[in-house]
Amino acid sequence: MSRVLVIGPGAIGTYIAGLLTRAGHSVVLWAREGSAAILREHGIHLEGLPEPIHLAPEAIQVVTTPQAAREHGPYQATFLTVKAYHLPPVLEALRELGPGITPVVDLLNGVGSTEALQQVLGAEHVIPGTVTTPVRRVRAGHAVVESLRRGIGLARTHPRAAAIATWFRAAGARVQTYADGRALKWSKLIANLLGNATSAILDMRPQAIYAHPGLYRLERAQVLEAARVIRGLGLPLVDLPGVPVRLLVAGMRWLPGPVVRPILARKIGGGRGEKWPSIHQDVHAGRLHTEVDVLNGAVVRHGRALGLPTPTNQLLTELVHDLVQGRRSLDAFRRRPEALLALWEARRDKG
Ligand SMILES: NC(=O)c1ccc[n+]([C@@H]2O[C@H](COP(=O)([O-])OP(=O)(O)OC[C@H]3O[C@@H](n4cnc5c(N)ncnc54)[C@H](OP(=O)(O)O)[C@@H]3O)[C@@H](O)[C@H]2O)c1
Repeated sequence: MSRVLVIGPGAIGTYIAGLLTRAGHSVVLWAREGSAAILREHGIHLEGLPEPIHLAPEAIQVVTTPQAAREHGPYQATFLTVKAYHLPPVLEALRELGPGITPVVDLLNGVGSTEALQQVLGAEHVIPGTVTTPVRRVRAGHAVVESLRRGIGLARTHPRAAAIATWFRAAGARVQTYADGRALKWSKLIANLLGNATSAILDMRPQAIYAHPGLYRLERAQVLEAARVIRGLGLPLVDLPGVPVRLLVAGMRWLPGPVVRPILARKIGGGRGEKWPSIHQDVHAGRLHTEVDVLNGAVVRHGRALGLPTPTNQLLTELVHDLVQGRRSLDAFRRRPEALLALWEARRDKG
């Protein structure tokens, strides 16, 4: 039995904590005060699995400070399951925690978190990872797995990565390991672009976005821009558990829209259950931050450094910022594909 620390008891933190507890490990959850109180009252509930996991409050350990986390350690691994925009204070806390927490498994979506962790902890102490399972948060410590066909990807950048993979397999999860952590993170980025920013801007479900010929052209453009940047970085695309990223990009690149659209509409819509894409969740909950800067925004930044144009990702990033910062109302594009497409075409004509 190993002792592990999970930082962030949201959808993915609950999923990871639930699976590892089921596999017989001792899990300490690091939460902010409000969520810690909820965990101490309600425990952990992970539904949507063939056998749901319910842990009473007495069965879990919750900490809210680096000192308390240290007292429960040392840990054989730490899993980072906050959103990308939560990262700066967590990096400070990790710095304060010191040794006894590594390897740290970076499960954040988007790119940049692994490099930030490596700066604080040293490159050899970080395992880039990803979760492809869609998980819906009900409240802190209570989440619903929306599909059993996906899983977890881990880079083999640390001697303990293989053991960690077996912990999750023992809990019934599908796990794949990868030689190249950057290829893993950038390939996941491609999957996270699909119907994400557009869904937030248009307040439409990904399935409806992929059913619309004009919106499909825009989605295709953002994906192919990202794929060019990934190639420019010298990285291969890799398939992820339950997500054939290489086939997806090749299909979007080479096959006619009328052939690909219905397949993608079914796969993308059906794969996520009731869960809205993450940028939609944040924008429409009135939050001040989204992960767009580590997704579409990262494509733009890296494209610029490589001299590659990324106008579609640039537009989507700007529009999400405009909505979050109140420069445009949520009604500006709500279920108005033609308005978004007109802006996109105008931008491309200008470029
Ligand atoms: N959900 C999915 O289906 C899914 C799938 C694959 C990947 N991901 C990625 O996984 C990451 C986590 O996503 P999520 O959906 O699990 O988000 P989430 O439900 O919002 O959970 C994030 C958790 O982090 C906690 N947190 C934030 N700052 C913290 C701090 N300083 N100390 C301790 N806890 C802190 C939040 O606390 P509060 O509870 O107090 O807000 C929240 O519980 C994201 O990068 C996301 O893109 C998500």
